[in-house]
Amino acid sequence: MKIEIYPTAAAAEQAVVSKILAQVAQNPQSVLGLATGGTMEAVYGGLISAHERTGTSFAGCASFNLDEYLDLSANDPNSYRSYMESKFFDHVDLPRDRCYLPDVGPDPEASAARYENLIREVGPVDLQLLGIGGNGHIGFNEPLTPFSTTTHVTDLSPKTIEANARYFVHKNEVPRRAITMGIATILSARSVVLLATGRQKASAILAAIKGPKTERCPASALQGHESVTFVLDSLAGSALEDVSLYAIS
Ligand code: F6R
Repeated sequence: MKIEIYPTAAAAEQAVVSKILAQVAQNPQSVLGLATGGTMEAVYGGLISAHERTGTSFAGCASFNLDEYLDLSANDPNSYRSYMESKFFDHVDLPRDRCYLPDVGPDPEASAARYENLIREVGPVDLQLLGIGGNGHIGFNEPLTPFSTTTHVTDLSPKTIEANARYFVHKNEVPRRAITMGIATILSARSVVLLATGRQKASAILAAIKGPKTERCPASALQGHESVTFVLDSLAGSALEDVSLYAIS
């Protein structure tokens, strides 16, 4: 496990952008695992600017998003497909027919199984980008999700509904269910980069990195992955005792 702590959120975000660009430079046919959420917005901004300013091409790549809400239509502005289109896909040359998200058809269980099979067929994912919930979730794998789960239908925890309510007019509009890659799916990626910024992530980061490997903190499953990097700003890293060991100025 590698831990990198940057003085600011902007520096941490830029470090993640550089890792993704390095992956695509090293293998232009990379399969990227993508995440949504507030933390990732600057990462997509950085990738778009690399595409526009230096001609970085994603034309040979494919992408798999971690998750998608159920009970919203795919073109609802709050769907993760809409997020990805407006914040990334519309601005780069990643072929649209290879930008995969779980589909929200009439049979979610079947959609989840199809998505898992597709990841196995097109993958493995070369670089999986992750954020982390304040409760330690990765994707929508909430606390107590077994580490052996593959892509599945899940209920959002009350804490996640609360956290995501900021994007909706009323809290009761936040979907209660989602399809998410499972923890085993996430661990099948060749490499994982988890980005966390802000003090509200500090205790989840502490549990993920230093706590026991336990289903109470889904992100602690990453302790078992052979190539995982936690990229943090100083606030997200502030609960770690030996911060200076990982500091990057
Ligand atoms: C998003 C996802 C979630 C978020 C997490 C953090 O696709 O899978 O696990 O990464 O909830 O969200 P933000 O960045 O909004 O704090």
